[in-house]
Amino acid sequence: MTDITIIGTGYVGLVAAIGLSDFGNRVVGADIDPEKIERLKKGIPPIYEPGIEEYLRRNLESKRLSFTTEVEVAVRGSDVVFLAVGTPPSQDGSADLSYLYAAADTIADNAKGYTVVITKSTVPVGTNRALEDRIRARNPQADVDVVSNPEFLREGKAVQDFFHPDRTVVGTESERAKEVIRTIYRALNLISVPFVWCNRETAELIKYASNAFLATKITFINEMANLAEAVGADIHAVAKTMGMDGRISPKFLHPGPGYGGSCFPKDTKAIASTGDDVGVDMSLIKTVIEANERQKKRVARVLEEMTGSLSGLTVAILGLAFKAETDDVRDSPALTVVADLLASGASVRAHDPQAAENFRQLLPDTQCFSTGYEAVEGADAVVLMTEWNEYRSLDLDTLTEKMKGRVVLDARNLLDPAMVRGAGFTYRGTGRGV
Ligand SMILES: NC(=O)c1ccc[n+]([C@@H]2O[C@H](COP(=O)([O-])OP(=O)(O)OC[C@H]3O[C@@H](n4cnc5c(N)ncnc54)[C@H](O)[C@@H]3O)[C@@H](O)[C@H]2O)c1
Repeated sequence: MTDITIIGTGYVGLVAAIGLSDFGNRVVGADIDPEKIERLKKGIPPIYEPGIEEYLRRNLESKRLSFTTEVEVAVRGSDVVFLAVGTPPSQDGSADLSYLYAAADTIADNAKGYTVVITKSTVPVGTNRALEDRIRARNPQADVDVVSNPEFLREGKAVQDFFHPDRTVVGTESERAKEVIRTIYRALNLISVPFVWCNRETAELIKYASNAFLATKITFINEMANLAEAVGADIHAVAKTMGMDGRISPKFLHPGPGYGGSCFPKDTKAIASTGDDVGVDMSLIKTVIEANERQKKRVARVLEEMTGSLSGLTVAILGLAFKAETDDVRDSPALTVVADLLASGASVRAHDPQAAENFRQLLPDTQCFSTGYEAVEGADAVVLMTEWNEYRSLDLDTLTEKMKGRVVLDARNLLDPAMVRGAGFTYRGTGRGV
């Protein structure tokens, strides 16, 4: 049985911890956040992620999974140490690697015997090599290989993605490290998940290139949606038909209020910053970043067009998470929209099935309600921001009864325009003609 420590038990580290213990490894999840660890020890996930609770309980009970704040002790007893700490953007857009370096120093000071250090965090090209140099410089006796193993999971489907990834990317040139990695991931090998073996720089760039491409694809369809709206075309038919072309694929062709979350915004900024560092023109990615900012700002502007003025308006916001099935609000478009509405003199009544608490930590003035129908009470307008399933089946009679006004801005195209208009509302989606 391989002994594994995972440093950082956030969205990525926790899913890796439950997954790797489920594969039969002995795993310690280590985090500097004592509150998180206390909850995890009791089997209570600190995040909302479908399916995670069952796996957490099951692996805690099997004793293959445990949690600690004593990162040093955990590292001392491990053959493999995963790095899954945050790499948030710095002021200049480059990735802040301070959490990663702090964790690497803990490894340098505590690793015993041959240790494979596996970086799951998203890090700029060159970081894994630099990490290895840093550990060896700090402790010349340390017998380590630092491997890049970027994570591709989607929040909301993270558990499923861990057990059934499209591919697993491993950046290392060390045969010894490859052997260890084959052992800990043998369950994936058994179900024929493709493994991509490459050098560390290639692995690091695969991750950024993938996220930059997806962010570009979303931004592309948003731009087409804005155009469709202006010329009376239907973006759904456009996107669906584009997607029938095998070279394009229908995925990530859903228009909306801009991409958000903890990855695309920061990773596009970081790859642009890497380009600047090495003197490569990244104007495409930089344009995507700017266009996405404009898309987020567009929501309040469209609502103003629909209502004449935002000042004094009561607006119900349905959905605060950056996408459905998560409680993550990092860089959520709803943050921009709520801030814009408040700044324009509107008042906001919000609802989200999972993310309200996290949202209020970032924008404490947001009034949140426990159901969508409570949030729309007395509202002049409702804005649908997140594609939660429960909003797809909103009862229009109840909306009519509870709302003061008759304006629906459906930023995610969740509702049937004809039905909403038929119920007496002024309706706009994204890219569905006007
Ligand atoms: N969230 C995603 O969907 C996703 C997907 C793919 C890749 N990633 C990447 O994975 C990394 C982690 O992302 P996340 O969303 O899980 O972050 P997160 O903020 O949810 O979790 C990071 C955790 O690391 C802990 N931590 C920080 N410094 C530590 C230290 N020195 N020792 C122990 N614990 C420490 C924090 O307390 C926190 O619990 C990032 O680089 C991110 O870009 C995230």
